Amino acid sequence: MSNVPMFEIENLHASIEDREILKGVDLTVNQGEIHALMGPNGSGKSTLANIIAGHPAYEVTEGSIKYFGEDILEWSPDERARKGLFLAFQYPTVIPGVSMANFLRMAVTAVRNARADEAAAQGGAAQRMTPREFRRLMKEKMALLKMDDAFATRYLNEGFSGGEKKRAEILQMALLEPRLAVLDETDSGLDIDALKVVSEGVNALTGPEMGILLITHYQRLLNFIKPDYVHIMMDGRIVSEGGKELVTRLEAEGYAWVEAQVAASA
Ligand SMILES: Nc1ncnc2c1ncn2[C@@H]1O[C@H](COP(=O)(O)OP(=O)(O)OP(=O)(O)O)[C@@H](O)[C@H]1O
Ligand SMILES: [Mg+2]
Repeated sequence: MSNVPMFEIENLHASIEDREILKGVDLTVNQGEIHALMGPNGSGKSTLANIIAGHPAYEVTEGSIKYFGEDILEWSPDERARKGLFLAFQYPTVIPGVSMANFLRMAVTAVRNARADEAAAQGGAAQRMTPREFRRLMKEKMALLKMDDAFATRYLNEGFSGGEKKRAEILQMALLEPRLAVLDETDSGLDIDALKVVSEGVNALTGPEMGILLITHYQRLLNFIKPDYVHIMMDGRIVSEGGKELVTRLEAEGYAWVEAQVAASA
């Protein structure tokens, strides 16, 4: 069973309001791998991310998404998070009246305690997370991301600058310790220094256990977080795959050559 991929998308088709957005996506991410997903505006990248997270607006009409060999499409968004899937949204939501610390404590202890309970039910050693442990962990991860302590007491995403929202998402990821993290344009809106801090944070969190799917438009993020594989999506399909050389070419030439390749093969 050891060669079951961690995360495998096969022939995924998905629609919203009867309009087909994803038209047969294949993508495999294994533990320890960093994948970059690029592609023009509107090609379906965020749609794919939302479907991985379990967003109810999209209907999967064909194909499968498997996580350690198990079909995740029947799982609730909650269950997906508990099992180790994480999505950092392109446009994080504002939750007025809920402080960052409270939101994270609720979200993180719920996921971690559910994981601990599952492990215990299977006879494993499992530690539930106490509020004190949570505070210690949050402090540690905020330091890693060079976030000011005052951040924790602010209301979630309310009045956060673009860069602060993105850091808040990465903080949440750091606390949840996912196996697969999908980061949707985490670089957008970050200034140069913040980009470095967030990238260093992501690099510090990755390891042999974790896989990352980075959605981005630009090379600059990929100079800090080095992808092992690069995929280009166009009109709901992955039309080109390779290594970092694809990013360099896109940066220099844009998408015209990819379009020409697609047209030639049609
Ligand atoms: N909830 C929705 N309702 C209606 N249309 C949607 C919805 N979500 C996605 N779409 C449509 O699906 C297509 C793909 O959108 P998506 O957000 O996945 O693109 P993207 O590749 O992430 O683009 P960008 O690079 O601009 O973020 C677009 O035409 C978009 O308008
Ligand atoms: Mg998008």
